[in-house]
Amino acid sequence: MNRKDFIKGAGLTAASMAFMPANGLFAKTFADQKVRLAIIGVGARGLSHLDLVLRRGDTELVAICDVDEKTLELAKKMIEKSGKKMPQVFTGDDSAWKKMLNVKGGLDGIIIATPWELHKEMIISSLDSGIKYVGTEVVLGITLEDHWDVVKAAERNNAHVMMLENVCYRRDVMAVLNMTRQGLFGELVHLQGGYQHDLREVKFNDGKQYYGGGVEFGEKGYSEARWRTNHSVHRNGDLYPTHGIGPVANYIDINRGNRFMTLSSFSSKGRGLHNYVVAKGGADHPNAKVKFKLGDVVTTQISCANGETVLLQHDTNLPRPYSLGFRVQGTDGIWMDVNKGIYIEGKSAKPHQWDNAKEWLDKYDHPLWARWSKETAGAGHGGMDFFVIHAFVEAIKRETETPMDVYDAAVMSAITPLSEHSIDLGNETVEFPDFTGGKWMKRKPVFAITDEY
Ligand SMILES: NC(=O)c1ccc[n+]([C@@H]2O[C@H](COP(=O)([O-])OP(=O)(O)OC[C@H]3O[C@@H](n4cnc5c(N)ncnc54)[C@H](O)[C@@H]3O)[C@@H](O)[C@H]2O)c1
Repeated sequence: MNRKDFIKGAGLTAASMAFMPANGLFAKTFADQKVRLAIIGVGARGLSHLDLVLRRGDTELVAICDVDEKTLELAKKMIEKSGKKMPQVFTGDDSAWKKMLNVKGGLDGIIIATPWELHKEMIISSLDSGIKYVGTEVVLGITLEDHWDVVKAAERNNAHVMMLENVCYRRDVMAVLNMTRQGLFGELVHLQGGYQHDLREVKFNDGKQYYGGGVEFGEKGYSEARWRTNHSVHRNGDLYPTHGIGPVANYIDINRGNRFMTLSSFSSKGRGLHNYVVAKGGADHPNAKVKFKLGDVVTTQISCANGETVLLQHDTNLPRPYSLGFRVQGTDGIWMDVNKGIYIEGKSAKPHQWDNAKEWLDKYDHPLWARWSKETAGAGHGGMDFFVIHAFVEAIKRETETPMDVYDAAVMSAITPLSEHSIDLGNETVEFPDFTGGKWMKRKPVFAITDEY
């Protein structure tokens, strides 16, 4: 499919494309421009972002910050190997990152890949210090108020906050986006997604390695076991909604002609984490006494202004193969990723029978993947991680909005506290806030509209 057909399929007008000058112009304008970046948190995720930043010719890594010596050493080795200039390194205490915000020469953008509970303060301080582009790992904050605070900080500073939600760029997810925009599924009616990933070896380890080898967490754990597991002790809700809801939000133009209206969540009993501790560490291990508040399977339903329903699942404590469980269903057809099937009425090979999704996904490969697949080689999560950093950097170069903005980040993140609230209230349906203050009615889709970023 050529670019013109793609744009036509996406329902774009010349006006909505006006902010996107032609490739050639950018090549000229940005030929020698280097985007000055810093990273807070070079742990498991931050190292992957570091790698992607180092690979690019249009970035200058000015500074990094972390409080963990071991991971800083890994980061320094990676930088040395890249042949790039060693950035300034900020470390020593939990507030070292604050000094980094005022690094000499200033920053065009900052990437945050720290524990969830630190994001809000790091984002808001970055914005208030004058940094115009903040790329933050999932999620924006913890409470609903946190999410509002970040939105207000972005508005107050006229600055951009992009949540680095990589699954939005997964190849099959993007091909299906292309198909939805070309109307293959008809009018969308129901969507599903989630985070269904056995994280027991992430939530517990031996305090030395990233995955497993022990049943420690908190102070005695390493990487995510150090901080993430505590959320399973104290909270019950959909703790990790963004990988499922990010793609779904793009399919149905959330914040851009549509919005989430109400939400209700249900939680199953929680057995998986306790059983794992007992099985691997013994019934006498101190962590066998810990009461985990998180239910093993948390199910959330969301209603939308345009009449669609969304079903999300959070399932991280039980033995199971990985699956995000996507389903996109419209008046003319359906995609499900678990069975790798697509059915389009009147177009599929046989009535009532699934086509192998691959034929459709190949045919409707998104122009971004078609153009950049060479550059994705070696990037994390099957290549999709390339696109988040690519989009962040390209938006900075163009001094334009990021393809997912602070309102998108806020609605995705808000699902967690709203689901906790609904469960607390005995599965009551709760209102979804409108972070855009009514702007959703007029905003137009900007995510992956062209093959540029
Ligand atoms: N999108 C994805 O696919 C994906 C995958 C993994 C993690 N993540 C997200 O990335 C974020 C980080 O997760 P992770 O797996 O890298 O965890 P991690 O624990 O491995 O890394 C976090 C890093 O932050 C550092 N840190 C903690 N406090 C700090 C402070 N005050 N100042 C500076 N650095 C500090 C830690 O030392 C650690 O190196 C989380 O939001 C997580 O959900 C996303």
